Amino acid sequence: MKEQLQVLKAEALAEIGNANESKVLNEIRVKYLGKKGSLTAILRGMGSLSAEERPVIGELANKVRQEIEIAIDERLITVEAAEQAAILAKERIDIFLPGRQRKKGFPHPLQLVIEEIEEIFLGLGFTIAEGPEVETDYHSFEALNLPKNHPARDMQDSLYITQDIVLRPHTSPVQIRTMEKLNPQPIRIIAPGRVYRRDALDATHSPIFHQIEGLVVDEGITFGDLKGILTIFAKRLFGEDRQVRFRPSYFPFTEPSAEVDVSCGCNGKGCRICKGSGWLEILGAGSVNPVVLQMSKYDPDKVSGFAFGMGVERIAMLKYEINDIRVFLENDQRFLAQF
Ligand code: DAH
Repeated sequence: MKEQLQVLKAEALAEIGNANESKVLNEIRVKYLGKKGSLTAILRGMGSLSAEERPVIGELANKVRQEIEIAIDERLITVEAAEQAAILAKERIDIFLPGRQRKKGFPHPLQLVIEEIEEIFLGLGFTIAEGPEVETDYHSFEALNLPKNHPARDMQDSLYITQDIVLRPHTSPVQIRTMEKLNPQPIRIIAPGRVYRRDALDATHSPIFHQIEGLVVDEGITFGDLKGILTIFAKRLFGEDRQVRFRPSYFPFTEPSAEVDVSCGCNGKGCRICKGSGWLEILGAGSVNPVVLQMSKYDPDKVSGFAFGMGVERIAMLKYEINDIRVFLENDQRFLAQF
């Protein structure tokens, strides 16, 4: 029996030494020391021993049990540490991995131009007004001295929603809304916004574009004020060295009316941008037609005014020498990143 115990111990220790998994070590524990284990089986045979042998074998059996237990526990420490290390290595998160860089957005060139123009007029004492993009026929045309069937309505090929509701073809209805709101106070506003026309998209036309409207109404406003303000504006926007000229024109809502040109950067030599003329047309303007003042309940005998309107895309194209209006709508990063 002594020998059996020695052999069992040697076998157990050898198995323990070879075990590389905690699971295996636990199996070894059960195999040798468990209720149905081999050590228990040997001890069950102790009944046949003599009274002198029994305590000796008993003591030896206890020692063997202890030694196997200690060996398993010690081995477990090493094996479990290795297992833990393997899990940590596998589940390791590298918190020092650099994050993915997000691409930065850019302000749209049209937004930049609108903001630049706003800054100039804010500096001249103007405030910013707004109006709806879905407008009434009245605000879009009638109140601007464009009655139904007036031939000048052809100047804007408009997109109608119903007979009386239209996608505004210009920002001029904001003039009317401002007069309705501020009457009888003096007015000095600009109104940037989106406008719509029944035009096919090509290099110079877009069914959606932007305008900035201007309106000044007060006592004693003259065409000289219009010339002064718009000359300052054009020079601030395009450069102090530029010339500004006023050409007679026609708009139903202004009388007299003018178109305003700024001299081209080519300095009169004539280039692709000014098509050889040396001048760039930048806006329409005029003294507010007394009929328009009257319809919005301002007394043309007491007050007068001037108004102007410009296309933002057109100004951006001239300023940045862009020759195709479609680039503003395409959101091509290579284009947008340049501003
Ligand atoms: N509404 C005109 C257009 O869309 C632009 C314009 C011209 C506005 C003269 C004005 C103005 O206020 O006085 O073409």
